[in-house]
Amino acid sequence: MNTRFGGYLCERGGGADAELTHVERGTPGGEYLRRFWHPLALASELTDVPRAVRLLGEDLVLFRDHAGRLGLLHRQCSHRGASLEFGILSARGLRCCYHGWLYDIDGAILETPAEPETSRIRERLCHGAYPVVERAGLVFAYLGHPQARPALPRYDSLECLADLAPFKLLYPCNWLQVHENTADPIHIPFLHGRVSGTPQFSPGFSELPALAFRETPLGLVVASTRWTGGRLWIRCADVMLPNVAQYPPAFETSEASRAVVGAWATRWITPIDNTSSWVVGYRHFDRVIDPDGQGRREHVGVESLDFAGQTAQLGEARQRDPGDWEAMVGQGAIAVHDDEHLCASDRGVTLLRSLLRTRIRASTATGREPGGGPEPLPTYTAELALPCATVPAPAQLAELGERALSHLVEHAGVPRAQRAQQLADHILEALACR
Ligand code: FES
Ligand SMILES: [Fe+2]
Repeated sequence: MNTRFGGYLCERGGGADAELTHVERGTPGGEYLRRFWHPLALASELTDVPRAVRLLGEDLVLFRDHAGRLGLLHRQCSHRGASLEFGILSARGLRCCYHGWLYDIDGAILETPAEPETSRIRERLCHGAYPVVERAGLVFAYLGHPQARPALPRYDSLECLADLAPFKLLYPCNWLQVHENTADPIHIPFLHGRVSGTPQFSPGFSELPALAFRETPLGLVVASTRWTGGRLWIRCADVMLPNVAQYPPAFETSEASRAVVGAWATRWITPIDNTSSWVVGYRHFDRVIDPDGQGRREHVGVESLDFAGQTAQLGEARQRDPGDWEAMVGQGAIAVHDDEHLCASDRGVTLLRSLLRTRIRASTATGREPGGGPEPLPTYTAELALPCATVPAPAQLAELGERALSHLVEHAGVPRAQRAQQLADHILEALACR
């Protein structure tokens, strides 16, 4: 429609791309997502009562029994459906409050106390249960076919000596539009710089970056390259499949030269159901990433992060100074893909959707997705600020970003500090040859 004052003629109300966005059991996306581990809680949230949780559209109960073991069970009791949210933690497992059936963490029925001694129901039946593991303060669950269960992935960025602070933020919208935010670095100069009432990053972020993308074994890596303050500034972020992303430092400026490989934050977008998600992950507190100690660990946790715009604001503040939360939740419960007009600057979003669709279609119920192995998986999040006296042309900026991405991918196994130095040398060499 291209008629002015033609709202009447403008047809909207199309649908979302169900293949990519729907997460329930039996849907293509839901079955694919079930091939992976997802974080769903902070370990510190598990107290002396069970927690009702929802993950991939399933109602569950998460608990730690008196022996310290983690369990994740279907929420409704196998006997007559009472909610195990009201169950009583036991030395071994969780006991239903209604008639006392006792469930082990693997779903084995340990006791049916009102039944005769001769009852065989305990051998005939298992309650629905999923494996759960705790790592560095987060609790991860696997909801897929037991035969396809991968090891919990180990990312190299999480294996360094950073102090990892877990966080969890509620986004009442579909997981994909939240994950797409990382593949869309063009939103940063606008949402976080020029448009919001209070710039949410340092001023250099308001410059429009040249973009470069590269596929990696884990998904995509995105480079945003700017020239600002007499420096070339390249920021590279991981957009991994299906739902993990990593960012370089958020507080930095390009005022001083630096070369860093490593993440400021690693986050999963865990689908609660089709229309709500947890943004859950780790803030990395690390002197390499944040040499001036600008991070605030005490602000990182449940519904709190030491960075503006990541949680719901109140009243008109949402309109005067919108952040990521407002932008993504404002796209609707599920962004309406049929009504979008994707452009050249949406290349990251297009690439991510295309990769995701390919993987969803190739996924099978018992096929194991790449996951944890004996070695940490290489990631590519990095930041460079290097002296550069003259402004490169936009095409040169993009080309320098591409060079940085290639170097990062090709030197994946190199130790972090060395990898950063080699990357800086490589880009300085390219600048000298211009
Ligand atoms: S409903 Fe749970 S034991 Fe009866
Ligand atoms: Fe953002």
